[in-house]
Amino acid sequence: MTATEPAIPAFPFATTGCPMDPPALLGELREDSPLTRVTLWDGSRPWLVTRHADIRASLRDPRLSSDVRLPGFPFLSAAQAEAIGESLITFIRMDPPEHTRQRRMLTQEFVVKRMETMRAEIEATVDSLLDEMTAKGAPADLMEDFALPLPSIVICRMLGVPYRDHAYFQQRSQMVQDTTAAPEEVNAALAELAAYLVRLAGEKAAEPGDDMISRLVTEQETPGHLSRHEVAGMALNLLIAGHETTANQIGLSVLALRQNPEQWDKLCANPDLVPAAVEELLRHQSIVPTGLQRVAREDMEIGGTTVKAGEGVLLQIASANRDPRAFDDPDHLDIERTAHRHMAFGFGVHQCLGQPLARVELQCALAGLLRRMPGLRITKTLEELDFRHGGNIYGLFSLPVRW
Ligand code: HEM
Repeated sequence: MTATEPAIPAFPFATTGCPMDPPALLGELREDSPLTRVTLWDGSRPWLVTRHADIRASLRDPRLSSDVRLPGFPFLSAAQAEAIGESLITFIRMDPPEHTRQRRMLTQEFVVKRMETMRAEIEATVDSLLDEMTAKGAPADLMEDFALPLPSIVICRMLGVPYRDHAYFQQRSQMVQDTTAAPEEVNAALAELAAYLVRLAGEKAAEPGDDMISRLVTEQETPGHLSRHEVAGMALNLLIAGHETTANQIGLSVLALRQNPEQWDKLCANPDLVPAAVEELLRHQSIVPTGLQRVAREDMEIGGTTVKAGEGVLLQIASANRDPRAFDDPDHLDIERTAHRHMAFGFGVHQCLGQPLARVELQCALAGLLRRMPGLRITKTLEELDFRHGGNIYGLFSLPVRW
């Protein structure tokens, strides 16, 4: 590097300052250098994109690929890169037309109408978890006693996975998400999860039930549209996406509201604001700290900068959600703002398939806590709390509360 060349920062960035805000460097780059190169663990130098408009345009652009098999795909750790060869590549890591074909097999499972029919059941699950918490008495760990079990119970029911096995797959799925884990550990966790789900799909083939894995086996595997391995891969993807994400979003949302007590009080006084609050919390608190990974299939321009074929691109949705060009006073949490242009669920063809489910879960979780525990308080300071740094999903290991 010559003296005039700007330094290329290492990515992922360390969390600096408030753990509830994206790293300060992201905000600086968004203003001064919205497309900039960063250095990854393997020395590769993908582009980091930080502005809302550039990210939105990129996620709509078919020249940016999600295919992990293409050279130049920006893996965030050795474990991620090595695990890919062995792992079950699902449609989240594919491009159309195969992506479209596989995603369509699941769209009916997550349509808004279907999720709304599950609302009463999700509310009942919220109530029974809060009953258990109340019966045990304060203090409690909101993550362990509420935020993790809620989405986990729901996705298990939908998939037809026995919830009694949750410790087994939760531990392994956390390992899969951990960018600091050794490749052998991630591969072992993936292999065990895959074997578990292949076995379960076999049981469903013999005796189908009213669940997603059974439908994938009978409607897709039996006619030859998917292999057993692909069914297991889809189930694995949903099992991981289905609980880690929403669980951490619940934890961060509750924490953000308690950090802004006037917003919590406003919600207690007017629970009709819950759906808008959920959107604002999705905007303000990102559980995807490393952003979305893509690789350019051909030379293209992003925000006026040329990105060459084979170069990696990291789209920072946490930064997009705090871009002052898209949101007024973006660092301020305001549950009454209209935050619907947030990109917490991504955008374009890969936009989160489970978002109707996540929304219902987040709304029911928040409404239940406000109704049953209006005096909820967190018993540790921000500095004392145990945040999940270094993974693909940000959040909290635990959240001690009293009410
Ligand atoms: C707060 C909760 C959630 C957040 C913030 C979230 C976020 C995201 C994001 C940002 C993407 C886009 C990835 C990309 O473009 O590369 C995505 C995709 C996806 N999500 Fe979610 N998600 C959440 C909950 C869920 C749930 C509950 C499920 C299912 C049970 C789910 C299933 C999926 C699937 C299958 C994809 C891949 C879609 C595709 O590639 O076509 N997510 N999610």
